[in-house]
Amino acid sequence: MNPNFPFRRVLLKLSGEAFTVEGKLGIEFERVRHVAEQIRVCHKMGVEIAVVVGAGNLFRGQAAAESGMDRATADYMGMLATILNSLALQDACEKIGMITRVQSAIEMKSIAEIYIRRKAMRHLEKNRIVIFAGGTGNPYFTTDTTAALRAVEVGCQVILKATKVDGVYDSDPKKNPDAKRFARVSYMESIQRRLKIMDSTALALCMDNNTPILVFDIFEKDSLKSMFEGQKIGTLISSEEGLEYAG
Ligand code: GTP
Repeated sequence: MNPNFPFRRVLLKLSGEAFTVEGKLGIEFERVRHVAEQIRVCHKMGVEIAVVVGAGNLFRGQAAAESGMDRATADYMGMLATILNSLALQDACEKIGMITRVQSAIEMKSIAEIYIRRKAMRHLEKNRIVIFAGGTGNPYFTTDTTAALRAVEVGCQVILKATKVDGVYDSDPKKNPDAKRFARVSYMESIQRRLKIMDSTALALCMDNNTPILVFDIFEKDSLKSMFEGQKIGTLISSEEGLEYAG
């Protein structure tokens, strides 16, 4: 095991944006293939990988609720959209030789197996990529919370949160050219500084269960691979007190 990446089982959280190009809605299959290829390279290094996919590329529950739709209905639509993304990722992974299982939180027997914790753990032990679809199955929760919940449930030692930014900054790097990236920050510090790494439910779950979160840029070439090789990329959020700036 690589001492700089001492994790045997990880949960990769992909935002829906990882499956599309900037400003576009829908599924860009080239992007999905790219993500699958990154997963394959890392999986070959012997780490068990579970995945949670968001749905922002297809449907934004929050925006629909803000424009007047019933929040629970909007959230259910978002959950269904995660199933589309999960099947797209499953297909892309299997096309390049990985064995996968999609487990849905919403019963949909003819499409995917239902989420069963012990079965998911068995799949991981057998080196299958497990893709958790359908969110938590409940409205009012985000896919970040799904990621935190599933990671804790199936014993993932870290959440790899893939975004389009290369870590967490002390201010918005798009607005402030002097914004500085953190290499490491504690849960408490991130709450106090309102860094908005994840929603508060997700963050609280990670904090209570001591599950670290590594935020990194999935669009950066070979970022996932570099991380698995032990290079210090992104920002690590953990129980370790204080913070450290990058560079
Ligand atoms: P093992 O028990 O370790 O052999 O796992 P397995 O997933 O290979 O066994 P199982 O017989 O449960 O599954 C065989 C295939 O059927 C896999 O591709 C599963 O994803 C799929 N599968 C299992 N249960 C369901 C289900 O309820 N619905 C759908 N659509 N597929 C399922």
